[in-house]
Amino acid sequence: MQCLILVSVIFVLVFARSVPTFPSPTIDVLIGPNCHMCEVILNNVRYEYHNNFTGVTPDQLRKSLYIQCDLNLNGFTDEECHRIADNDSPDILQQLQAGTSSYRICQRELLLKMRFLLIFLSFLVALAWCQRIPKFDVSNAELLAMAKKLRRVDTNRARPDQVKLNYQKHTVTRDDSDAAPAKLFSKVDTSLFRKPSYELYLNLMDNFNRQTGIIEPRVSQSEEKNEVGKALGRPDTSGFEHVFIGEAKNGEISGMHNWVRFYALENNRTENFDYKGFTVKRFNIMAALKFTWDGLLKRAGSILIGTSPEFDMALYTMCFLSRRGRETCDVELDGCPLQITSFEIMQQNKVYIGSIYPTAGRITDECRAQNR
Ligand SMILES: *[C@@H]1O[C@H](CO)[C@@H](O)[C@H](O)[C@H]1NC(C)=O
Ligand SMILES: *[C@@H]1O[C@H](CO)[C@@H](O)[C@H](O)[C@H]1NC(C)=O
Repeated sequence: MQCLILVSVIFVLVFARSVPTFPSPTIDVLIGPNCHMCEVILNNVRYEYHNNFTGVTPDQLRKSLYIQCDLNLNGFTDEECHRIADNDSPDILQQLQAGTSSYRICQRELLLKMRFLLIFLSFLVALAWCQRIPKFDVSNAELLAMAKKLRRVDTNRARPDQVKLNYQKHTVTRDDSDAAPAKLFSKVDTSLFRKPSYELYLNLMDNFNRQTGIIEPRVSQSEEKNEVGKALGRPDTSGFEHVFIGEAKNGEISGMHNWVRFYALENNRTENFDYKGFTVKRFNIMAALKFTWDGLLKRAGSILIGTSPEFDMALYTMCFLSRRGRETCDVELDGCPLQITSFEIMQQNKVYIGSIYPTAGRITDECRAQNR
């Protein structure tokens, strides 16, 4: 907020005198597109459609854009945002389908809209000023080294003999059949779950309601202190919930990217959880899995395997802070390249974690050698 005021003041001081007849709404235009608002809106829309725009109509996209405009902007900028949605939905849809990055689409949209060079210059100034999250400048090599270090110090992780997997058959996302009659985890040494962080996490699970939109029950104060993630979201959903618990959203399972949670669900009859096969696997390191949970399908949910809850939280936080949106965070676990993808969502001008999940990188000889 301070940055907006600052930018507005600079703008008024520098330009207002020389351009006294500047139409008044243009100041508002500055508040809209700066701080990458356009990118954020597009990323939220991507998130809504799981970045799959096959079969999406321009009209559906327009409605989604409307909702995001209203959530993130107000006044004149909101109207402008609606106007862009009205005029350019077919064009934006085409670019989304072609895999054009949000950044490129926004650049185009904003350039189209900004007929005044002056506003464009101010926009650049505003961008430089407005970092909603402090800049976290870190090189790819440093991220990789940090991930390796986190792995080394993760003493609470499962030893290889403590977790045995039964992957069963390979499957693809569009296949709805069950390629895995048995459970994924054939054996887990449950003494792991008596370690404090695992125990806290397992206790937390009962506090969340799977259906987004239902306010979670209050937790006790001591639990609340330990509940890092709750601070990250609206009352009914949060980055923590999305990643570590999982939610039912629009008739599908959204999120759920943790192996301890997977194990707990798989072994709780009342959850009605069924593993249906893997789409990608990397030994005992990570996998993308298909499953149903209480009748709802997850086509490919990826998890790291055997890592401690604190490791996942540390790795994901590091990656979210340094490589959100169009950048992936390229790390390695026991020689296996992995990418961590994360998206932010904006609510009331604040950045929240939308989703974070791992994707397998290419399989390397080192990955094979270390994980026989
Ligand atoms: C994208 O969506 C279409 C239609 O909803 C579906 O047929 C297709 O399998 C999806 N693709 C992926 C990669 O999920
Ligand atoms: C099983 O799940 C239900 C919620 O569906 C929960 O109340 C219960 O505590 C869970 N049981 C165990 C053993 O975790």
